Amino acid sequence: MAPPLLLQAQGLTAGYGKMPILHDVSLDVRAGEMVSIIGPNGAGKSTALKSIVGFVKVSSGHVRFDGQEITGLRPDQVLPRGLAYVPQGRIVFPQMTVLENLEMGGYIERDGQRIRKALEQVFGLFPILGERQRQKAGTMSGGEQQMVAIARALMTRPKLILLDEPSLGLSPKFVSLIFDKLMAMKHSGYTLVVVEQNAAKALAVADRGYVLELGRNRFEGTGAALLADPEVKRLYLGG
Ligand SMILES: Nc1ncnc2c1ncn2[C@@H]1O[C@H](COP(=O)(O)OP(=O)(O)OP(=O)(O)O)[C@@H](O)[C@H]1O
Ligand SMILES: [Mg+2]
Repeated sequence: MAPPLLLQAQGLTAGYGKMPILHDVSLDVRAGEMVSIIGPNGAGKSTALKSIVGFVKVSSGHVRFDGQEITGLRPDQVLPRGLAYVPQGRIVFPQMTVLENLEMGGYIERDGQRIRKALEQVFGLFPILGERQRQKAGTMSGGEQQMVAIARALMTRPKLILLDEPSLGLSPKFVSLIFDKLMAMKHSGYTLVVVEQNAAKALAVADRGYVLELGRNRFEGTGAALLADPEVKRLYLGG
């Protein structure tokens, strides 16, 4: 039997002000899956994540998360339900240490024991952050800062984590490292949605993928099927 649906976005129309950007966009995520969203610049990938989390107003359609309707809720109402969001641009608190950044991520947790457990798990996934706990986050390299941003989101032990362009602007070595970390997160039981420019890599690691274009669903399928699709190849994978 297929694992339960954790996230179901159905027929989303959403945008900024009166101008719709997403038109009838749907996507499903099952527990334990890694789902990639690819598509050209301006396709609405970031807007899709933002409308799921509540940063962008949804004018029609539904978002269900973990069995509950979350359509129209604000981010501060959605995130505590176990949905984490790592925005584009590896945002860290630069003047704070790595450890302080992580503690900020765990802010909704009051129980010291559980915070320590979450830290232990995060340091297991990202050993370098354990070694650099006392370093100011702003002095870390770009790839390391991205790990801080991801690790901070994991501090709440989310049921689902949405990542917007985690590899953007990183050197090839760090791009590979970030993809390895995403795989490691999946293997340790996390469910992930990853928006990526790096389409071939994102589909190679994904259980399933969606291609958005001009604010609409264009293709969907298993990562392997999309990678092998001649039209997807021609349009989005550079031949
Ligand atoms: N705050 C905003 N106000 C008005 N329009 C916006 C805003 N943010 C994005 N848009 C517009 O919405 C459309 C989709 O943008 P979005 O950022 O979702 O695309 P994307 O697929 O994430 O692109 P990229 O790959 O460049 O990150 C674009 O036309 C963009 O100009
Ligand atoms: Mg974007």
